[in-house]
Amino acid sequence: MQFLPIFLNVRAQNCLVVGGGEVAYRKAVLLDRAGARLRVVAPKISAELEALVIAGAGELRIRAFKESDLDGVFLAVAATDDEEVNSNVSIAAKNRGLPVNVVDKPALCSFIVPSIVDRSPIVIAISSGGTSPILTRKLKEKIEILVPAAYGRLALMLGAFRGRVKSVVTDFKARTRFWEALLSGPMPGMVLSGDEDQARRYVEHQLAASEQIEVRGEVYLVGAGPGDPDLLTLKALRIMHEADVVLYDRLVSPEILRRVRPDADMIHVGKERANHSVPQEQINEMLVRLAQEGKKVLRLKGGDPFIFGRGGEEIDRLAEANIPFQVIPGITAASGCACYAGIPLTHRDCAHSVRFVAGHLRDGSIDLDWDELAKEHQTVVFYMGLVGLETICAKLIAHGAPSTRPIALVQQGTTQNQLVLKGTLDTMPRIVNTTEVKAPTIIIVGAVVSLQDKYSWFRKEALLDESALL
Ligand SMILES: C[S@@+](CC[C@H](N)C(=O)[O-])C[C@H]1O[C@@H](n2cnc3c(N)ncnc32)[C@H](O)[C@@H]1O
Repeated sequence: MQFLPIFLNVRAQNCLVVGGGEVAYRKAVLLDRAGARLRVVAPKISAELEALVIAGAGELRIRAFKESDLDGVFLAVAATDDEEVNSNVSIAAKNRGLPVNVVDKPALCSFIVPSIVDRSPIVIAISSGGTSPILTRKLKEKIEILVPAAYGRLALMLGAFRGRVKSVVTDFKARTRFWEALLSGPMPGMVLSGDEDQARRYVEHQLAASEQIEVRGEVYLVGAGPGDPDLLTLKALRIMHEADVVLYDRLVSPEILRRVRPDADMIHVGKERANHSVPQEQINEMLVRLAQEGKKVLRLKGGDPFIFGRGGEEIDRLAEANIPFQVIPGITAASGCACYAGIPLTHRDCAHSVRFVAGHLRDGSIDLDWDELAKEHQTVVFYMGLVGLETICAKLIAHGAPSTRPIALVQQGTTQNQLVLKGTLDTMPRIVNTTEVKAPTIIIVGAVVSLQDKYSWFRKEALLDESALL
């Protein structure tokens, strides 16, 4: 992050604007809206800027900038078309330890003014750190559409009830639940449709019933998908915003973790191959204990919790302890990686079924029904198969698959590091041996792999086929 986003209280504070033209006027309007007392300095000041300053009982200094203009000032903005003046304002303000903004010159600024979506008292600030004002504007347009104008009224109403709710629902967790339930119910809709009286009656009614609220912890087993944060489900995102505590695996990418409620407790429970940093039984017990403390617990897992995710074991223990839980599916690695690699898992011409198989070695071998897996007209996807790749290829060939059967290995599928290696059952072990492959990887076997040439669409350059390697 280049700049720290903060909201400054400038109410009744002297704020200096150096400049008298259109740009200075725009900055002055913003400061005025936030309640600042304006001091504007410039040899020439536009009529509209002058009117704004006078209306707000501010100060006009119709002359060139002097360092003494910074006396008694809370912050300064330089908005002239003279680079030297702008630079002088910046240096002088910084020397005094004052926050300073020079319009369109991030290098001279100690703060920048973000683009804003104003639904006061809700204000959304957007900044590209000075890299692309146009992108910021586009984003602002999207947010303007997403956030109805009435959100301001909704916030005011919630603010008006805040004190009462605090005195009636005294327990912090119960209060959090109360607000969450209120905002997930019909009340916001009543405000947005203009019926504020009904909304107020509804809050009163909920408040009267709140004595019966019992704070019960609950656990959400949520699939975070294979890596691309845009593949999270809407439900997963909602729970990520509400959780008190999050237990997450190594496979959950940092980009996804950044979308979790910022003040949630984050607990990394690991699960690397051969390095289960927290044993499964301990994870099960942690989930039970945290829920019994009344917390909303998010167990965030890569892919789908019920596909090679040991989700069953975790809810088994929760059910035993009588803890309420929900399981939210995620896009499993087979599906996500195949789509992003451009490999359809089924195809009416060559694959009528698909199997998801655990390909990890146990005591040096993989105990699977190889006769079935070697058959034609299907796709077989091996999870956790990198270490056993040589065994997988050899077993399939030994059980009747042609050595020319296509096979792909997808590394870190759906992420910006995605790499697709392609070959045959015969050549793939050598290809993998000559490439620096990074976990996690998934293996796809079947005729569908040969369609990849035509269907590839994501990170096309990140494809290595055997001709490049052998
Ligand atoms: C313990 S399993 C968990 C699977 C997960 N529950 C799912 O539904 O995708 C871990 C294996 O999933 C596969 N995997 C998960 N994410 C992947 C990704 N982004 N790219 C390739 N393989 C992935 C790898 O085979 C890895 O060894």
